[in-house]
Amino acid sequence: EWTTGNIVEEQVSAIREQVGEARVICGLSGGVDSAVAAALVQKAVGEQLTCVFIDHGLLRQGEAEQVERDFVAATGARLHVADERDRFLSALAGVTDPEQKRKIIGREFIRAFEAAEAAVLQEAAADGARVEFLVQGTLYPDVVESGGGEGAANIKSHHNVGGLPEDMEFKLVEPLRSLFKDEVRAVGAELGLPAEIVQRQPFPGPGLGIRIIGAVTAERLEILRRADAIAREELTAAGLDGEVWQMPVVLLADVRSVGVQGDGRTYGHPVVLRPVSSEDAMTADWSRLPFDLLARISNRITNEVEEINRVTLDVTSKPPGTIEWE
Ligand code: XMP
Repeated sequence: EWTTGNIVEEQVSAIREQVGEARVICGLSGGVDSAVAAALVQKAVGEQLTCVFIDHGLLRQGEAEQVERDFVAATGARLHVADERDRFLSALAGVTDPEQKRKIIGREFIRAFEAAEAAVLQEAAADGARVEFLVQGTLYPDVVESGGGEGAANIKSHHNVGGLPEDMEFKLVEPLRSLFKDEVRAVGAELGLPAEIVQRQPFPGPGLGIRIIGAVTAERLEILRRADAIAREELTAAGLDGEVWQMPVVLLADVRSVGVQGDGRTYGHPVVLRPVSSEDAMTADWSRLPFDLLARISNRITNEVEEINRVTLDVTSKPPGTIEWE
């Protein structure tokens, strides 16, 4: 019988068999797949696992805390956090081209991960142990897409932050290789991971870095984070998370428009709401959100985030528009 409980049991014993007494390292991205893969390995070999979280400063409000606090509370996993926010901000300074941003974020991620990995290896060595395995949250569709070969874990590496160095000499542990996304969510729930992690909608690896149209700065990230948090909160309160595949909030950081806020004229920034409905992100349609929900989001953002004085709605399907603006 194919139940979530069985999947967990089966994977736990497979992981134990594969890993033996060796140490294991796992990068957490804030997303569902890496969290569930790590939780499975933690259940299987507990103390032998060290998770690594690179805080690149491009996550949304509350997401770093979900990893640093909630994931750890739910699993008891040992977590090595690397605060690399400055590294990413300096590397991204003045960069506006989307592909350039992706390249830089991917490159810095690998460097940051290597540094964290070295620290973990050293810690293990101090205990006389060796780190031999790396956990990857590869899903069945990733395996199929890449022809099922051994390099499957690398298929998304150009696309996903979490793409890891190619010359790494670790053996891979891929406990989600036979699972679809909904099964991964069920396994995560079975393992006691919080709903905020397990039910998270897709979020791009380069994060808010590709939702600021213009150069990325700490101030712009903070503005976008506050607007995005309001939009997500209202969408959830309206009970529409299930109907919307993703709702990027995009900051047009180099555009200014005149507004009247409070006592006077302002010269602030617009944000774009990009709610889409989709099955697989290959095609998408703009979500027909209720007008009163849109009004609430707009009022709250312009009231609570003073740098934003205009909220616009993207009514383009994909194609021709991609889901993200960059
Ligand atoms: P687009 O914008 O191409 O997005 O319609 C399709 C899906 O992919 C996500 N996306 C990314 N995910 N790294 C990622 O890990 C990226 O560079 C990236 N760009 C887009 C996007 O959020 C949507 O789910």
